[in-house]
Amino acid sequence: MSEYNKKTIDMYNLGGALEYIGNSNVDPEIEKWKKLFNYVKSVLPKDKNVKIIEFGSGCGQLAAMLQESGYDVVSTDAVDTFLEEQKRIGITQVKKYNFLADDFDKVFDSKADLIISWRNPHLDVDDMRKLFGVVYEGLNDEGLFIINFQNSEVHPEAEILPNGTKYNYKVLEDKQTKEKRFYAYFSKEDIEELRKDLFEIIEYHNEGGKEQKNWHVLTLKKIKRI
Ligand SMILES: C[S@@+](CC[C@H](N)C(=O)[O-])C[C@H]1O[C@@H](n2cnc3c(N)ncnc32)[C@H](O)[C@@H]1O
Repeated sequence: MSEYNKKTIDMYNLGGALEYIGNSNVDPEIEKWKKLFNYVKSVLPKDKNVKIIEFGSGCGQLAAMLQESGYDVVSTDAVDTFLEEQKRIGITQVKKYNFLADDFDKVFDSKADLIISWRNPHLDVDDMRKLFGVVYEGLNDEGLFIINFQNSEVHPEAEILPNGTKYNYKVLEDKQTKEKRFYAYFSKEDIEELRKDLFEIIEYHNEGGKEQKNWHVLTLKKIKRI
């Protein structure tokens, strides 16, 4: 795991998580969660007989909605404060899990039909490659992976790491976060590189911001090993 991801987790552990929870309680963004919930539902089979694991669930809003609607869902995070918040809002299956450091098979008792990694922009290219490998191994055959990435097209000011990651290390202007955070940005070509040989694209769109292109959103399907 990169020093950037480690620093981000340290930042969340040292008060950033409480600040994040505070911000999301002030601005619950209910419509955004409903939209995401409907998107997730739209790619899943109708019978709800699927095992879902969410990576980096943060406050747990999406997992709570999926649980409420009858899905078998586990919410996770690497940061205790977020796990406490997930339990506080009533999620019954909560697990501490760092997807870049922990062993999937030791934490979860079975593979998943759907893994979600939503709004986790704190990963450089190498972390992202690792995440894709972990998700591939953690899914049942033909399992689905929902992920979003910040779009490099709307961040021409980004700097570039030696491994090619486009990024900023900054304080968010709209939320006035106290500590700097690492934000990585990806192009469609970067995503192609990450998913080829592992996943096929089931759905792709852009959303967010004035021009609706702040984020790449994808549903991917695991390609069976030959
Ligand atoms: C920007 S927050 C998003 C939280 C939630 N998915 C949402 O959309 O509100 C990023 C989350 O990813 C978690 N995270 C970052 N790196 C992680 C890692 N390596 N393993 C597990 N969780 C991680 C953070 O602790 C944080 O909860």
